[in-house]
Amino acid sequence: MIICFSSLKGGCGKTSLSIHLAHEIAKSGSRVLLIDADPQGSASDWNASREDKPLFSVIGMAQPTIHRDLPDLARDYDHVVIDSPPRVAKIARSGIIASNLVLIPVTPSSYDVWAADETVEIIGEAQITRPDIKGAFVINRKIVNTSIGREVASALKEYELPLLKTAINQRVVISEASNGSTAQELEPTGKAANEIRLLTLDILRLMEVDQW
Ligand SMILES: Nc1ncnc2c1ncn2[C@@H]1O[C@H](COP(=O)(O)OP(=O)(O)OP(=O)(O)O)[C@@H](O)[C@H]1O
Ligand SMILES: [Mg+2]
Repeated sequence: MIICFSSLKGGCGKTSLSIHLAHEIAKSGSRVLLIDADPQGSASDWNASREDKPLFSVIGMAQPTIHRDLPDLARDYDHVVIDSPPRVAKIARSGIIASNLVLIPVTPSSYDVWAADETVEIIGEAQITRPDIKGAFVINRKIVNTSIGREVASALKEYELPLLKTAINQRVVISEASNGSTAQELEPTGKAANEIRLLTLDILRLMEVDQW
């Protein structure tokens, strides 16, 4: 499966969720490749700052030819996660065309919902030639003990794309993980690790497959 985290909005959690999802899938024993499609190279920096190798491979591919170049590389892996850049629509489009599933992280702010418009449009365009591409929203950085702002939840309902059931809360351990670790490694039995695990189950359900 090829899963792309995409949003032209900066800072909504594309890189964090890509890394945590890649780690979680790899834990199941699958061979996982993380494509760093962001010219900022955040996922590659994360990889470089690690003391040991992660459970998955990280390859930089910040170019609008991912959909052409990835199939060859992907042959050696069971699953691929693409971390898309903000703003660079050409690369985002290429990542979306290359994918089976596009996840749009949305923080509980109406700005993120408005910013999702463009990504939803690109998914719609891609589906003209690739109707099998699925898309979904995932709430990230939800503040614990608050309900998602009604505005955000109802604004998301205006789109045809579903919202994944599991929201990833604002967690210190996820921000700490940005310097070369993962929440699963730092706190294997913690709440963040559990949310990531539940998120992968939501993805399996959405894609109608039993296991990674
Ligand atoms: N669930 C979370 N809990 C706490 N901090 C988070 C969470 N998700 C992301 N962050 C933090 O928010 C910041 C932005 O996250 P991240 O870099 O993953 O977003 P992004 O969408 O990849 O950004 P960009 O658009 O710049 O590539 C980072 O400092 C990250 O550590
Ligand atoms: Mg990023």
